[in-house]
Formats: sequence, structure tokens, C-alpha cells
Amino acid sequence: MLDVSGIDLTTEVVRTERLVLRPYRPDDVDAVLAACQDPDIGRWIPAVGPAYGRDDAVAWVTREAPAERAAGTGLTVAIEADGEFVGSTGVHRIGQHPLGPEVGYWIAAGARGRGYAAEAAHAMAEWALGLGASRVYLVADVGNTGSQSVARRAGFTQEGVLRSYLHYADGRAADAALFSRLPGD
Ligand SMILES: CC(C)(COP(=O)(O)OP(=O)(O)OC[C@H]1O[C@@H](n2cnc3c(N)ncnc32)[C@H](O)[C@@H]1OP(=O)(O)O)[C@@H](O)C(=O)NCCC(=O)NCCS
Repeated sequence: MLDVSGIDLTTEVVRTERLVLRPYRPDDVDAVLAACQDPDIGRWIPAVGPAYGRDDAVAWVTREAPAERAAGTGLTVAIEADGEFVGSTGVHRIGQHPLGPEVGYWIAAGARGRGYAAEAAHAMAEWALGLGASRVYLVADVGNTGSQSVARRAGFTQEGVLRSYLHYADGRAADAALFSRLPGD
């Protein structure tokens, strides 16, 4: 079982070879707002959706991500490469779901194709497994082949398909590919 009792999630930073995965700061709002205008993020991330505005970015950066950390239920982090904001990743639903904690990610359109998503997802999984999680999982729309490639690159294995699992803001429901990573993977 993932045990975060001994660490302060509000300040936790995870580093990889190229990336710093660190808490959101209020000055991230503009970068998040700009990145989430990309139609692919709105299309594939139900929580973003197609009409993402400043209020949504402010809520995410200053309230929702910090609240998750403060409650000990998740580690939502900004992804920085060379000191620049390039995306978002996280471990969510800690201690809240029998499938295990969930890994998620998105990368700003201008920073894609450099392996950042896979590097970040791998690091988030390592972080959770290193703290005792017996498994971590992620889900990707069956049509989101890019995200499924990221999952495999990050060491996840597909377990199956969850029918009608994803529910988007425009009312669409979609099947999701379910992936997991175990400590030995
Ligand atoms: C999917 C997404 C996270 C990929 O980010 P990225 O940083 O460009 O991905 P990476 O560079 O780490 O790619 C890892 C692998 O996935 C492949 N890949 C990434 N995007 C792909 C795409 N759109 N189509 C096909 N393959 C893709 C890469 O070629 C790479 O494959 P390789 O290991 O064989 O070289 C990014 O396009 C994104 O944010 N999309 C919108 C939001 C989203 O879908 N989030 C995930 C929701 S589940």
C-alpha cells in the first residue's frame, strides 16, 4: 500500500534526467491556460474539456492541485524542462481506489515529441511504487494512440478495456484502455 504518511506532499519534488516535477505555483496559471487551449488536451482530458478558461486554470493551479497534495490523496505536479513549464503529470487517487493510484499527464503542444510524457509518467510510477504501491494504473481513450504509446514507453502493460469509462464535457462517452505497472515491471 502506498504510504505517504512520512512525506510532505505539499513540497515534494521529483527529478528525472531532464525534468523537474514540482508543485504548481500561482505564476503557472498563464502557461496552463495557454497549453489547455490546444484542442488535443481538451479532447482527451475530461477535466479540461473544450472551453477551458482562466477561472479553470486558476482553480486548478491555486486550489485543486494544492488541495489534493494537502489531503494526501495525490501529487499533481508541473513538468519543467530547462526551467520552462512544459506540461502536467501526477499520481492521483492515493488510497482511494482498489485499482491503485492513477498516473496522468499532458504535454504542451510545443514540447511534444521529445519523450517528456514517457519520462514523467515513468517517474511518477517509480515514485508511487517506491513508496510501497503494489500497482499503479492509467487509462487512455481507446482512440488516443499517442497516450497508449506513452504508457508502454513508461513501462506500463495493457490489462484490458474499460467500456464506457470516460465521460467528456460534451456528453461523449468512450471506452478506455487500462494499463498498469507493478513493482517488478
Ligand atoms: C499524448 C502526449 C502526452 C504525448 O506527449 P509526448 O511528450 O509527445 O510523448 P513522448 O514524446 O513521451 O512519446 C512517447 C512515445 O509515444 C509516441 N507518441 C507520442 N505521441 C504520439 C502520437 N500522437 N501518436 C503516436 N505516437 C505518439 C512517441 O512516438 C513515443 O514512442 P516511442 O517510445 O516509440 O519513441 C501528448 O501528445 C498530449 O499531451 N496529448 C494531449 C493530452 C493527452 O492525450 N494526455 C493523455 C491522456 S490519457
